[in-house]
Amino acid sequence: MLPLFFEFHSPTKVVYGPGLVTDLQAELAQVGARRYLLVSDRGLEKLGLPARVATSLEDAGVEVVGSFLDVPENSEVGAVRACAEAAVAAAAEGLVALGGGSVIDTAKCADILLSEGGDLVDDYSGAGTLTRPLKPLVAIPTTAGTGSEVTQAAVILDEAGSVKLSFSDKFLLPTLAVLDPELTVSLPPRLTASTAMDALTHAVESYVSPQWSPMSEALAAGAVRLIFAHLEAAVADGSDLEARGALLTAAAMAGIAFSHAMVGCVHGMAHAVGGLCHVPHGAANAILLPHGLAYNREVVEERLGGLAPFVRGLTADEEQLDPADRVIVAITNLAGRLNAAGVLATRLRDVGVPEERLAAVAEATVMDGTSFYNPREVVAEEILSHLRNAY
Ligand SMILES: [Fe+2]
Repeated sequence: MLPLFFEFHSPTKVVYGPGLVTDLQAELAQVGARRYLLVSDRGLEKLGLPARVATSLEDAGVEVVGSFLDVPENSEVGAVRACAEAAVAAAAEGLVALGGGSVIDTAKCADILLSEGGDLVDDYSGAGTLTRPLKPLVAIPTTAGTGSEVTQAAVILDEAGSVKLSFSDKFLLPTLAVLDPELTVSLPPRLTASTAMDALTHAVESYVSPQWSPMSEALAAGAVRLIFAHLEAAVADGSDLEARGALLTAAAMAGIAFSHAMVGCVHGMAHAVGGLCHVPHGAANAILLPHGLAYNREVVEERLGGLAPFVRGLTADEEQLDPADRVIVAITNLAGRLNAAGVLATRLRDVGVPEERLAAVAEATVMDGTSFYNPREVVAEEILSHLRNAY
């Protein structure tokens, strides 16, 4: 049955191609800005990527008027302000974000300050605080996970570094997303696995969300298919451009899907263990995805079963399970194989979560914004029993 109402708004132009980052002339001409600030991080600088992209941008006929390479691993308000100051000082007309979710989110928020001025936290945190388009933002992801290059969301730590501030606005959608799998070949196997499991979690949670639409579910299912088909190849051989390209595409598809359909209690639990126990987001989702699906199973059985044709890696016996269980088992098996390969944890105890913190994690899960979108009510006591299963 179709939902009674849905909307779909995804104006970010997505271009894909191995080596595309060196051939952006036509795309940048359409974006229009002439003077760009390049935003990236020091890890990528060591790999020489910002310099390579700066040269490509100059070759494409635009000016790189400055760079801001001090985006921290989990970006915070101070970095956003410094980035915006660099953009203002250089009289930038647009931003190019080269990096993972933290870099792209920093550029999104710096774009607010560059375009509108004001105070990031007081004036713009929350949803729907912008009134008009910002200066152009070109997002070039170097990880295949968050999908931030196609979403209207950004997450930034507050000044104390303890609270995650969220920003959500249609004007935060990047102008252009450049998917070049050559930029992801240096991503180590562990990060390849955990970021892809984050993308898989976006796809699966958005697929079973009460907010789903036929448009979001098509993108989510496509992302699930690509991740199951290519993740292990990318982990085994980081230079496999076909696999890298599939994961990069899947992350963007899942990003568009969850931008519209939202995510639920798996992300709620992941945010909670991230905040309370500093477990990286992708690693947390990878552990918690099967358990969150078990929590929701009774109300999402039919929808979850719709993903069964897109998963892989089941034994002949497991193929006989009903569709919803095939999906949960296939995800558990995938995580198990990545665990056996030494690139992914499958238990909370293995990522530094103290058992006595589980009750606090359950309470924080209930309070997380994702609870609002979860297919069934998020109840602390029941979440706790699933957290124990994940322990
Ligand atoms: Fe996520």
